[in-house]
Amino acid sequence: MNAVTAIVAEPDAAREADTAPLRGFVTSFAELLSATRHEHEILATGSALLARLIARDDWLPDAYVQPSAERYQQYLLHCDSRERFSVVSFVWGPGQSTPVHDHRVWGLVGVLRGAERVQRYQRTPDGALAPHGQEVVLEAGRVDVVSPKIGDIHRVSNGREDGPSVSIHVYGGNIGAVERATFAEDGSPKRFISGYANAAIPNIWDRSTR
Ligand SMILES: [Fe+2]
Repeated sequence: MNAVTAIVAEPDAAREADTAPLRGFVTSFAELLSATRHEHEILATGSALLARLIARDDWLPDAYVQPSAERYQQYLLHCDSRERFSVVSFVWGPGQSTPVHDHRVWGLVGVLRGAERVQRYQRTPDGALAPHGQEVVLEAGRVDVVSPKIGDIHRVSNGREDGPSVSIHVYGGNIGAVERATFAEDGSPKRFISGYANAAIPNIWDRSTR
């Protein structure tokens, strides 16, 4: 053994998840956005990529699935260097829900663990907001889409009453920095920039052991 191999690639017992699937996902998503700017293609192909990512549940480090008793958590997992897209984990404790809100960019919602409840809203002629269609329960493995073009206002909540749920969302921008709105019952908007719950993101680029 020479001096170089002596310092390389001892397995790290603390390494808890192989993030290679997330690396593959963000690489494929960047390639998709370089290949097309048509939203319907991004949503269709992106949904298939996200469905493949959430079909397995061994790649997300525990730090990004921690619920908070205070409120739902949004952890940044990756942001494209040109801020064309971002990937986040949403973690819901029992009974937790978002306010009614919009996004201003396209979004993909994939459920990794548990379930997510989605109620869409639409404008009424007098400017208020009213539920649009039935509430939908997305079980693990399902993918939903939002966009200003196809319906951008909804309320999302944990679909499980007895434990946390985790979903993976992809948005057409750096979603934690996008200025958007939450809405009161009468439809009046309130300015909203979500930020993120975490200060550090997963290291998906260490290829020394995977
Ligand atoms: Fe949302």
